[in-house]
Amino acid sequence: MSRKKLMAANWKMFKTPDQAREFFRDFLPLVAGHDRDEIAVCPPFVCLPAAVEAAKGSNVAIGGQDMFWEQEGAFTGEVSTGMLLAVGCTHVIIGHSERRQYFGESDDTVNLKLKAALAAGLTPIVCVGEVLEEREANLTEDVLRRQCLRAFHAISGKKATKLVVAYEPVWAIGTGKTATPQLASEAHALIRGEAAKAFGQELADKLRILYGGSVKPENAKALMAEEEIDGALVGGASLDPRSFAAIVKY
Ligand code: PGA
Repeated sequence: MSRKKLMAANWKMFKTPDQAREFFRDFLPLVAGHDRDEIAVCPPFVCLPAAVEAAKGSNVAIGGQDMFWEQEGAFTGEVSTGMLLAVGCTHVIIGHSERRQYFGESDDTVNLKLKAALAAGLTPIVCVGEVLEEREANLTEDVLRRQCLRAFHAISGKKATKLVVAYEPVWAIGTGKTATPQLASEAHALIRGEAAKAFGQELADKLRILYGGSVKPENAKALMAEEEIDGALVGGASLDPRSFAAIVKY
């Protein structure tokens, strides 16, 4: 089963609109004509219009880093799927571990967001992954099973065709520690198994599961060589156009 890889950048809380424009000025020529993989960049909300404008007509898609499941209303600080679509986003990250850790995101809010993103026709990148204590206590499998089960709850295979999952072991994010390709592969296989239970084998076979956590130009090739790894979600190393281009072209 060959799945087109998705190489996605998560800028987190970095860059202003001007800095976003600068990034695309340097990045786009480096990946021009690269169609082996799908490429997406997820900047902060305030940079989205600048990023969409800069990437117009290129092979780079733009996504949000989060969203709210209601369409509009008195929800101070939130952004809806309709708003993301209106500025030209096609992708959205959901349930990143930093949202879970610092902003009270739960498995249930991930599920609500995933349903809304799929209904809107966005490509959701749902993040799952264990923290260090869970890994050390041999709880990785339980945690991944629970996160998938609850994220996928009450969503049909027919609705989930655009779903992308990112496996991001929290101990590997921003720490310089990367999961070994073997270890990531095992987690991905487990996630694919959960997707098969929720959505059926056919969708699970097509499901792209990205790896995230200290992906760098130096380790991208070995990770991407794994049959189970269908792309990368890149934080720190995606902020520099040359470094992200090197990862995309691993
Ligand atoms: P990192 O972040 O590449 O800086 O480890 C990945 C992520 O949090 O998505």
